[in-house]
Amino acid sequence: MKIIKTSNYEKMSRAAANIIAAQVIMKPNCVLGLATGSTPIGTYEHLVRSYQAGDLDFSNVTSINLDEYKGLSGDNDQSYRYFMNEHLFRHVNIRPECTYVPDGLEPDSAKACDDYNRIIAQSGGIDLQLLGLGHNGHIGFNEPADSFEKDTHCVDLTQSTIDANARFFASMDEVPKQAYTMGIRNIMQAKKILIVVNGKGKAEIVKKAFFGPVTPQVPASILQLHNDVILVGDDDALSLIP
Ligand code: F6R
Repeated sequence: MKIIKTSNYEKMSRAAANIIAAQVIMKPNCVLGLATGSTPIGTYEHLVRSYQAGDLDFSNVTSINLDEYKGLSGDNDQSYRYFMNEHLFRHVNIRPECTYVPDGLEPDSAKACDDYNRIIAQSGGIDLQLLGLGHNGHIGFNEPADSFEKDTHCVDLTQSTIDANARFFASMDEVPKQAYTMGIRNIMQAKKILIVVNGKGKAEIVKKAFFGPVTPQVPASILQLHNDVILVGDDDALSLIP
């Protein structure tokens, strides 16, 4: 694993964006695996700026996102499709039909997951997968468990996640209770993995995930077995690593 330590969030974001930009420049028709969450927002801002400066062309890029809430449409401002449109897709020249997010409106979980696994396979494989890291070591919606789930699957959200999301919805009925997520094999099959972390709050889990035992209780720990991982973090998030 390669570790890039930066002094703050802004520099972390620039370093991560540069790695993605290099991928797009080296292989204009690459497949990018993308993530939502607060950490990559700055990375997307830098990519948008590079595009606006004329330095990047997304016209042949395909993107495949990690996850989506089951039951939410792309128009819902809490959906991950909406997030991606707002933070990246609508600002660059990626073709909308080449941007994939699991179909939150597909009620049949088996079908939604099969369809997504097929999309990943038919893309020819993910060249670079961007990841954030959950405080409990989750990647995508792969939460701590007794075994690693391999392929795209439907997860039941924990009550604490449901409660935390409740403030964004008019009623409890509308709060998503499940999500579709890529599995660990989908993620591990990416040729290159870029993981971004910032803030003191991530320091403990960064140490556990990348310097502790490989265990499904810390899903990100599996990344220790991938041969091309770049961890980009700020000083705070990397403060506890040996
Ligand atoms: C996002 C995702 C999540 C986040 C993780 C970290 O698509 O799958 O695993 O990457 O929860 O979130 P932030 O960046 O908000 O700390």
